[in-house]
Amino acid sequence: MRKLKIGMIGIGVGGAEILPAMESMDRIDLVAGADIVPQTIERFKERYPEARTYLSARELCADANVEAVWISSPNRFHAEHAVLAAEHGKHIVVEKPMATTLEDAARMVEAAERHGVKLLAGHTRAFTMPIRAMRKLIESGRHGQLRALNIWSYSDWMLRPRTADELDVAQGGGIPFRQGPHQVDTVRLLGGGLLRSVRAQVGWWMKERPIPGYYSAFMEFENGVPATIVHNGYGYFSGAELVPWGEDKAIYTADQRVAIRKAMRDGTRNEAEDKQAIRIGGSREKDYFEGISAPAWVPEDMGLAIASLDRADVRQSRHGLYIHGDEGKRDITIGGGVETGVVQRRAELEELYAAVVGGKPLWHDGRWGMATLEVCLAMMQSAQERREIMLRHQVPVPAAYDNDLVVPGD
Ligand SMILES: NC(=O)c1ccc[n+]([C@@H]2O[C@H](COP(=O)([O-])OP(=O)(O)OC[C@H]3O[C@@H](n4cnc5c(N)ncnc54)[C@H](O)[C@@H]3O)[C@@H](O)[C@H]2O)c1
Repeated sequence: MRKLKIGMIGIGVGGAEILPAMESMDRIDLVAGADIVPQTIERFKERYPEARTYLSARELCADANVEAVWISSPNRFHAEHAVLAAEHGKHIVVEKPMATTLEDAARMVEAAERHGVKLLAGHTRAFTMPIRAMRKLIESGRHGQLRALNIWSYSDWMLRPRTADELDVAQGGGIPFRQGPHQVDTVRLLGGGLLRSVRAQVGWWMKERPIPGYYSAFMEFENGVPATIVHNGYGYFSGAELVPWGEDKAIYTADQRVAIRKAMRDGTRNEAEDKQAIRIGGSREKDYFEGISAPAWVPEDMGLAIASLDRADVRQSRHGLYIHGDEGKRDITIGGGVETGVVQRRAELEELYAAVVGGKPLWHDGRWGMATLEVCLAMMQSAQERREIMLRHQVPVPAAYDNDLVVPGD
């Protein structure tokens, strides 16, 4: 079997989240890692003794053995690292948000096109099977037309350890840039991609965190379908509690959240230590991801998504989707019910592999990512100017996307 040789740039918390998915795929060979923190590089080397390690993205990109890079460095480096990789002929998966400005996103698209490499805007929850199955149900027209989309999330995102750059909105810090892409990508995927406008308000109300921890946004598609997205990351109420099997399935338990908030107020929290503990080889790496890798869906960071059609409401269930239709409520299992955790996080790598090795189209390409970023930026602008922002860079979901996906029992 042809293996795709991947190098990771930025082996932080987001990187650690994807490593188990890479390990579990025999088509992926993790051959290199780059990070500017020597301790992280040592831990990476301990876990992957065969892999080459580098202290800069530039050195990794110059490694002839690397065919593709997974960019999970801080947001402000995404454009620089993607352009560097493209110039060295490497295919690219870039973490959300794709970049911090539309100009940077356009530079990335242009560099990938000029150098003939694939650029995948990845790692958003829109790649998960229940969301993709929901799109297929909408597309089928079986329950009538799509009439409305609503996604709400209550998370403890603001309590997780952060570095200085993550606490700077100019560098892509805060909920709209870091969590917005999950919900915006999902709304765009379910509604066909072409949003017309957005009106949003953001909230910053925790003095220890000088970045927005909340947003509400109202969006309208070209065809008039409305969508709302909400994310409250302050960690008082956890959306996981909305389902009976989700109590304390968030990243932190309710008691841990109380303790963290208190330590932040007292100024006694060692945030750098907390952050390193959840990166590769850290003391909390495994249990940090346990909640979100639980063998059943809970309303995690992306939240609870509800699609309303003429004759049904469709939403995520424990192992797939609930369809509340004219015949009553049905619970359908998607992907054998195991599409959570590690398996779910393979989607971007599978899409990249199919494109690079199998010659298939790349669905979530640079232009798709740029359209999602445009909405996140417009949310910030709308909040500042207190007006509706018209969108100009939206692209449709490609007609053939997920052609082979069959929604069981439908
Ligand atoms: N999709 C997801 O679910 C998800 C989850 C977490 C993070 N992320 C994304 O991952 C990215 C990083 O966030 P994080 O929480 O992992 O932060 P982090 O600080 O833990 O990780 C960033 C890593 O990059 C390294 N780094 C910094 N500058 C670098 C440089 N110039 N070259 C190479 N490495 C460099 C840091 O040392 C660190 O190890 C962000 O874009 C974030 O949105 C995505």
